[in-house]
Amino acid sequence: MEGVRVKVPATSANMGPGFDCLGVALNLYNRLEAHEDDKPRVEAEGEGAGLIPRDTSNLTYRAMRRAYEAAGRASPCFFIRQINAIPLSRGLGSSAAAIVGGLVAANALMGNPLAKCELARIACEMEGHPDNVVPCLFGGLAASEMDGADVRYALSQPHERFRFAAMVPDFELSTAKARQALPDAYPRADAVRNVGRAVLMHAALGQGDAELLRAACHDRLHEPYRKALIPGWDDVHASAADNGALAVYLSGAGPAMMAVYDCDDEGFPRRLQDALEGLTQQWKVLRLECCREGTTVRHGG
Ligand code: HSE
Repeated sequence: MEGVRVKVPATSANMGPGFDCLGVALNLYNRLEAHEDDKPRVEAEGEGAGLIPRDTSNLTYRAMRRAYEAAGRASPCFFIRQINAIPLSRGLGSSAAAIVGGLVAANALMGNPLAKCELARIACEMEGHPDNVVPCLFGGLAASEMDGADVRYALSQPHERFRFAAMVPDFELSTAKARQALPDAYPRADAVRNVGRAVLMHAALGQGDAELLRAACHDRLHEPYRKALIPGWDDVHASAADNGALAVYLSGAGPAMMAVYDCDDEGFPRRLQDALEGLTQQWKVLRLECCREGTTVRHGG
């Protein structure tokens, strides 16, 4: 049976003050092979393979069904094989990758009846927030907003001088739990401060303005409430800043933290890994760059 192969990037959302609206795609990829089949079959290997459902409750499988439904087609059964490199429940967009991978695979199997903006809308509906799924689908840097079923986004690329060092701990934190830690309402001063900084953060990332990035990357909407869920937060933050990070933020809902650094500072990830060695929890540093093309698909296999 004719199948498709999909390559889906990790993403880092929030990017400091851009809670639920800023995200970037990264060059760490899950791979997905899929074709229609007589009965549901799910195989998984790589990161978190033991935790991935092997039945039709699998998130990628559900996304594939959702794409067929959106296209007005009866959903067949699928074979899917997931080869995952994105760590699960760490704040690097594993659920967004599962959803976007499934939608793109299913759309390709149907001959692409759904426009990319429709895939983005369905992905946001399934994920509940847009800041991982939009850059995951399109690549680059995405500013996005979701109001009910309406999803809007502005796509660009971060300046080529910026590199990303993800600090990934040996423990998980579910997005649901990290969202429960947030208040229902905020003081006006916090909201105003974040709006200004988010706009500056987006501009700094695009323009390659390191000083503006440093000044803008401070958050009052989620990091102050979530840091208590992340053992070692203060030490990790200080290690990254002291070793030359231009900006440090909680990646998505965490627990991974992200340092943005300059491409000329090639030794930064190694220095950072060394600095994190003495901590109680184990933190692994991943050296990453922006994925500019987003999710890609090809027929065959
Ligand atoms: N913006 C979302 C949050 C990202 O912080 O909860 C979750 O991946």
